Amino acid sequence: MRGLMVDPDPDPDEPLGTALGWVGEGHRMGFVRTSSMSLRLRDSAELLATLAGGADVGDDEAVDLLAHALQCAAILEAVAPGDRELQVAGLVHDIGTILAPNRPEAHARVGATAVRGLLGPRAAHLVRLHDQAKRYLVTTDPGYRHQLSARSLETLRLQGGLLDPDERAALDADPDLGAGLTLRRADDDAKRPGTVVPDLGHWQGVLDQLARSAA
Ligand SMILES: [Fe+2]
Repeated sequence: MRGLMVDPDPDPDEPLGTALGWVGEGHRMGFVRTSSMSLRLRDSAELLATLAGGADVGDDEAVDLLAHALQCAAILEAVAPGDRELQVAGLVHDIGTILAPNRPEAHARVGATAVRGLLGPRAAHLVRLHDQAKRYLVTTDPGYRHQLSARSLETLRLQGGLLDPDERAALDADPDLGAGLTLRRADDDAKRPGTVVPDLGHWQGVLDQLARSAA
């Protein structure tokens, strides 16, 4: 049985409070609740096993979390073929929902913390940015709200709703805002049942490459 991933040196700036760890192997893994720990994925095998754990796990959307991740990454591979970090950020953007379910207000932060050491600061930042990108688009694009799923609209309120002027200025100054908005639009489009896209094996090499660069 695989042991708990308890980080012995949690980042005090990103406390998870009560979080979830997992035990078991691959598709048989299960979650257990622990307290006051940060979850950090140690290698690409662990990351892939965590994503695989999203199969048949819903978040009140039309597809499960694994299908959503794979569709999002495939869309980004098509629209941003030269940006592997963005594609991988799309693949893992909701991994925080798998690690700590039912915490929409925290899932982007949980996910960014989990992948930062493995995939590097930019991929983690794009994961962190994806819920703020929704807030940015709702604030700046009058038609965007109507493109959101019912669940996305519901979580928008928990994630802070419209940006205030200072929050918007901070995002406008972010050099990766454009990539973050591209990820967000892919996220919104990656909820189509029955869409055939590459499976997790397609991403193994890219993940290994990014992990080597970030090491
Ligand atoms: Fe998503």
